[in-house]
Amino acid sequence: MDKIIILDFGSQTTQLIGRRIRDFGVYSEIYHGDIELTPEILTEDVKGVILSGSPYSVYEEGAPKPDRAVYSLDIPLLGICYGFQRMTEDHGGKVAPLEKKEYGRSRICIKEKNPLLEGIPDGFVSWMSHGDSLDRMAPGFALVGLSEHGLPAVGYNREKNMYGLQFHPEVTHCERGLDILENFVCSICGANKEWSMDRYIEEEGAKIRARVGSEKVLLLISGGVDSTVAGGLLLKTLDPDQVYLMYIDTGMMRKGESEEVAANLKELGARHLFLIDARDRFLSRLEGVSDPEKKRKIIGDMFIRVQEEEINSHIAGDYFLAQGTLYTDLIESGKGVGNKANVIKSHHNVGTPLVEAKREKGLIVEPLEMLYKDEVRRLGTLLGIDGKIVHRHPFPGPGLGIRIIGDVTEEKCRILREADYIYIQELHKRDLYREIWQAFSVLTTVRSVGVAGDARDYGYVLALRAVVSLDGMTADVYDFPMKDLLEISSLITNSVREIGRVVYDISSKPPATIEWE
Ligand code: XMP
Repeated sequence: MDKIIILDFGSQTTQLIGRRIRDFGVYSEIYHGDIELTPEILTEDVKGVILSGSPYSVYEEGAPKPDRAVYSLDIPLLGICYGFQRMTEDHGGKVAPLEKKEYGRSRICIKEKNPLLEGIPDGFVSWMSHGDSLDRMAPGFALVGLSEHGLPAVGYNREKNMYGLQFHPEVTHCERGLDILENFVCSICGANKEWSMDRYIEEEGAKIRARVGSEKVLLLISGGVDSTVAGGLLLKTLDPDQVYLMYIDTGMMRKGESEEVAANLKELGARHLFLIDARDRFLSRLEGVSDPEKKRKIIGDMFIRVQEEEINSHIAGDYFLAQGTLYTDLIESGKGVGNKANVIKSHHNVGTPLVEAKREKGLIVEPLEMLYKDEVRRLGTLLGIDGKIVHRHPFPGPGLGIRIIGDVTEEKCRILREADYIYIQELHKRDLYREIWQAFSVLTTVRSVGVAGDARDYGYVLALRAVVSLDGMTADVYDFPMKDLLEISSLITNSVREIGRVVYDISSKPPATIEWE
């Protein structure tokens, strides 16, 4: 399948470049910017290479450099922002700091016709984010576009088939950015649009069958989108008798979650589904513990222990372990692609002794490892997984345990479960759920005085959170319609006796995080 390779030098938007390219049907892969370009990477179907942006300046010590081989390939090369500057510096041009950073929207004046800007009108609005600029173009490179501040914006080396953009075509604020990327990928590189979800199911299915043969495969199901879709794909690809699914109820799940997960997997043809009731095991270990890090550690360790105990009693002999790892997880955990600097998310299922042991023996199957979150959602829909699960907001491994501030008890789990259920149901009813990236409730330790009937009451303060985000790395507060917020608040306080007051969290990330603990 034709593909485009992106060399990542650490920009926040590298993944977006990959996403955009896949969006118009061409397969793309991201690698560390400094990776050695071996024949295994540079296969025949690689039709072009993109050098990404970076938080570094090219003249800074430690600034990442690509394998020099990238400049003598027979395929087109596009540098974006730092990538353009890198390419310039590496060909004898010069990059220098600007006195005033160029940031945000900037109109581009096209000075000379070139294939990258074919069909793009003069004066289109680009999106800039740079503190360095090209002081001198490299020999052989023509300056074919200028920003509205008169700074170099587009470069072109006809002979070498190399292109450079100072702005970011991948961000939504860049008008015609997608067209520019498509010009590069489809017209200049000539990559065919061969990437589709049907094709993925076919190819990934064949790969899994070849690897697993007739062995058993175990998948630990969390109830989230990723593991459920991974389960759906395994069940479609393999003989369902080979597929073992295990779901651990920690007592910190949302209302109805365990039942819903089980019903869905059965509908997808699951034959060996183990629903482990570990509520007492988890909650008794958490008794009296209020430090967030300690809680996370206890929950993580308990997952490992329960998994080991239960697997030993349910599966005999050797087996493959499947995981719902996504492309972004791979990038975030720095496994061979992307940049390590931005690891924010921690996964309870990455790096456990079980996973490590299976990895060492080559017995890990990760059927979603080349997919982005919304591709997983599309795949889930194609596999016939319920829309409610496919579009579910992310839910952290430690579950309600980190949404109950302070110590966790069964009673607090019950209160939070009831309140959160009302909140989420209302978001669905009001058609707001899909506008939000992640919404949930937090049970605080604050108690406040209120009036219930004729009596004064002393109830919990519940915080509602709703954020919009692309990937959870940064997040903005959802601009909640006030009318809905007021109505939801009163529904909650009227139905959950223990809650006396509802507040809405208006903190963005950064500086806050999405979860409270
Ligand atoms: P924060 O709170 O760090 O969260 O802004 C970013 C995203 O990661 C999720 N999250 C977790 N997921 N185990 C997980 O599997 C965890 O310990 C964990 N902590 C946070 C969070 O829900 C958000 O989507």
